Amino acid sequence: MEKFVIVGGTPLNGEVTVSGAKNAALAIIPAAILCRDVCRIENVPTTISDVSFMIKTLRHIGAGVKLIDKSTIEIDSRHVSSYVISHDMTKYLRASYYFIGALLGRFHKASVAMPGGCYLGPRPIDQHIKGFEALGAKVTVEDNAIVEAVADELVGSPIYLDVVSVGATVNIMLACVMADGLTVIENAAKEPHIVDLANFLNSMGADIRGAGTDVIKIRGVGSLHGCTYSIIPDQIEAGTFMVAAAATRGNVLVKNVIPKHLESISSKLIECGANVEEYDDSVRVSMDCRPGKCNIKTMPHPGFPTDMQPQMSVLLSIADGTSIVSESIWSNRFRYTEQLSRMGASITVDGQIAVIHGVDCLKGAPVKADDLRAGAAMIIAGLAATGKTEIEDILYIDRGYEHVVEKFGNLGADIKRVYCVEPFSVSDAG
Ligand code: EPZ
Repeated sequence: MEKFVIVGGTPLNGEVTVSGAKNAALAIIPAAILCRDVCRIENVPTTISDVSFMIKTLRHIGAGVKLIDKSTIEIDSRHVSSYVISHDMTKYLRASYYFIGALLGRFHKASVAMPGGCYLGPRPIDQHIKGFEALGAKVTVEDNAIVEAVADELVGSPIYLDVVSVGATVNIMLACVMADGLTVIENAAKEPHIVDLANFLNSMGADIRGAGTDVIKIRGVGSLHGCTYSIIPDQIEAGTFMVAAAATRGNVLVKNVIPKHLESISSKLIECGANVEEYDDSVRVSMDCRPGKCNIKTMPHPGFPTDMQPQMSVLLSIADGTSIVSESIWSNRFRYTEQLSRMGASITVDGQIAVIHGVDCLKGAPVKADDLRAGAAMIIAGLAATGKTEIEDILYIDRGYEHVVEKFGNLGADIKRVYCVEPFSVSDAG
């Protein structure tokens, strides 16, 4: 088992380059099987485990995947033969369900085991299924484990999402891009990775308009062809480094970003007293005083992203004053506050509201990563705290952050990845 060991108290200074967006890559990689051709995808965060699992799954169904360099892959989908993806392929990766839409779009049938992933609360797929059925597919979920979808033909249809869902918007786009006629997704998600997927599919010859708004129109085309495409920078990784710079009272230039994707994060950091300077493809964040309080309400894009909520709460836990954080997307995204409290934070959680009373400083302690973004928050907490912090269950962090030790280390952080023997277990008691 591995853990991170951090000695906090050093302001982060220097430059960091953000990798390609995990949640864009996880939507675009399955989309590549919609063409019987070769797609070259650049700026892929190839070393994060979510992407590795996705590539393994592609190979499992017969696609060829070549690693051209550390962030470029080539996907050859000409020989994709299977439309079945079993649980041993999906149990580690929530985004596996994108293969339902992609396989349905290519073969008009799909059999995909329900995925695993972080536990943020119930993660239904009723809106995905609503979309597939509107297109003419018959969808059954065998004992809540295997999603079977089959269609004689896929016909474009108006689809109104009852809930703004990134996953459902992605999956419906994948399923309808070669359907007969026009599909209109209303109340669609507007995240940057939705736009990125639409741009990738249009590079393959699709006809998608309106991505980034809440109405996306997809006119089905007969077939798609290969393309070369570069994935957008990761909005959440960028935000994580921005908050870490502020929490350690440092001065960091975050490079390879699209500032427009970071507007809600920048504005909240400015509200807390940070200096944020925007350039064409980078932002500089610096903080020379104790952060002030501010209230956060997570919302679908362009609102404050839920995937930045844990990280921002760490900054607020050492702010001057009391902040209110309301989590409107997930029902169970405050578990990390227990870990933060072990470091001296004063946070009261009531359902989807957290009241954070800022303390002067956090103290290093042994903690664990409850999920991907909670793990990122623990890193920020360890960097901002005095003394030593050890973070267990860091596999969650490796799901979504490339070269995290190197990137923070290059900014002056005292952070190491160490191997530790499995903790004593009762069975060892003999
Ligand atoms: C995506 O998850 C992201 N994951 C999540 O990021 C992110 O938190 C989330 O979008 C919201 O932005 C990936 O892109 C791989 P949703 P997704 O469908 O698609 C409800 C990270 O840290 N809902 O937008 O699963 C759902 O319960 C991860 O990178 C339904 O009710 O999220 C939730 O309350 C964590 N029915 C809300 O919608 C459905 O059919 C938003 O979920 C689908 C969703």
